[in-house]
Amino acid sequence: MKNKVIVTGGCGYIGSHTVVELIENNFEVVIIDDLSNSSKKTVERIHDITGVLPNFINVDLKNELETNTVFKKHKDAQLVIHFAAHKAVGESVAEPLKYYQNNLYSLLNTISAQSQNGINNFIFSSSATVYGLPETLPITEKTKTQRPFSPYGNTKKMAEEILDDLTKSNHEFSAISLRYFNPIGAHESGLLGELPNGIPNNLMPYITQAANGNIEKLMVYGNDYPTKDGTPIRDYIHVVDLAKAHVIAVKRLLNKEHEKPLEFFNLGTGIGYSVMDVINCFENTTGVKLNYEFTERRAGDVPQLYAATTLAQEKLGWTAEKGLHEMIKSSWDWENNINN
Ligand code: UD1
Repeated sequence: MKNKVIVTGGCGYIGSHTVVELIENNFEVVIIDDLSNSSKKTVERIHDITGVLPNFINVDLKNELETNTVFKKHKDAQLVIHFAAHKAVGESVAEPLKYYQNNLYSLLNTISAQSQNGINNFIFSSSATVYGLPETLPITEKTKTQRPFSPYGNTKKMAEEILDDLTKSNHEFSAISLRYFNPIGAHESGLLGELPNGIPNNLMPYITQAANGNIEKLMVYGNDYPTKDGTPIRDYIHVVDLAKAHVIAVKRLLNKEHEKPLEFFNLGTGIGYSVMDVINCFENTTGVKLNYEFTERRAGDVPQLYAATTLAQEKLGWTAEKGLHEMIKSSWDWENNINN
C-alpha cells in the first residue's frame, strides 16, 4: 500500500512541483486547493508528467466545516504538506487582514482537522523572511528570527510559533518547517512553473515578462546597496530542488528519523547572486537583451540574504543540485510555453 500524503495548495507553484516528486517517489497524493491563485489544468499537467492523476479536491481551507469533512474522508493519510497561502508581499502590506485571515485560518483549520483525524505529521512551507534583517551571514537555523517586514512574512513566523506550541502540547504531532530562500525555475517538461496571475511580485517573473515584451522594462530596485555591484544579493534556488527536499522531509517524518517534534531547515544553495548577476546570466543564457532601469530601493528589501546549507546537508542528506543557468533556462522555457 502506498503512503498517502495530503498536499494543500498542490496546484500552486511549489506545491505542484512537489506533487510530481511525491508521485515519482510512489506516494499517493490528495491535492486540496481553492484555485484562488492557480489552475485546475495543473492537475492534468501533473498527470501528463507522471502518468498518475492525483485526487483533487476544491476546498477553501478557511471553511472549517468543509476542511473537517475532507480530512475525515482522508483520515488514512499519513502526512500533510501545507502550501496553501497568499504570498504577495506588497499586497499583504496593503491588505494585512486578508493575509492574516487566509494564511492563519487555513493553517489552524488544517492542523486541527488533521490531528482530530489522527494525521500527526506536518510539513510547513515557510520562508527566509522569518529572519528579518539578519545580523550575520550566512543564515543558519540558529540565526535569531525577527518580526518580518510584511504581514505575509509575519504569517509565516506566526505559523511557526503556533506549530511550536502545538508540538509541545500534543506529543503525537510532529512538524518540519522548511524555510525557503528565493525559489525560481520551472519543471524541465515545460508543463509546470510559476503562473503569472496579474502583476508579478518577484524578480524572475518580472525578468521573463520584460524579456518577452509583456512589460515595458524591468525596474531594478536600487544600485546603492553595500554589495559588489550595488544591487541586493539573494540565494536563488531551483523549484525542483526545493520539491525534492520536501520528499526527503516527508520520509524523515514517516520513518520517525526527526530529532525534535518541530524541526527547521533552511532551503537554499548557499550561493548569493546579485540582481545584476541574475540579469547578466539571463542575457547570456537566453541571448535576449533585457530592457532595465535602476530606480529607488523597494521598501523592506535587505542588502544580502543567503543560507547556510550545512544542517539540511547533514540531517536531510539534501543539497541543491541545479545552478543559476539551469534555473533561468527553465524559467524562460516555461514563459515561452505558456505564451505559445
Ligand atoms: C520575497 C519575500 C520573501 C518571499 C519571496 C518569494 C520579503 C522581504 N521577501 O523575497 O518572503 O519568500 O519573495 O516569494 O518579504 N527586484 C528588482 N526588481 C523587481 C523585482 C525584484 O530589482 O521588479 C529585486 C529586489 O529588490 C530584490 C531581488 O530582486 O533585491 C529579489 O526580489 P524578490 O524576487 O521579490 O524576492 P525577495 O524580496 O528576496
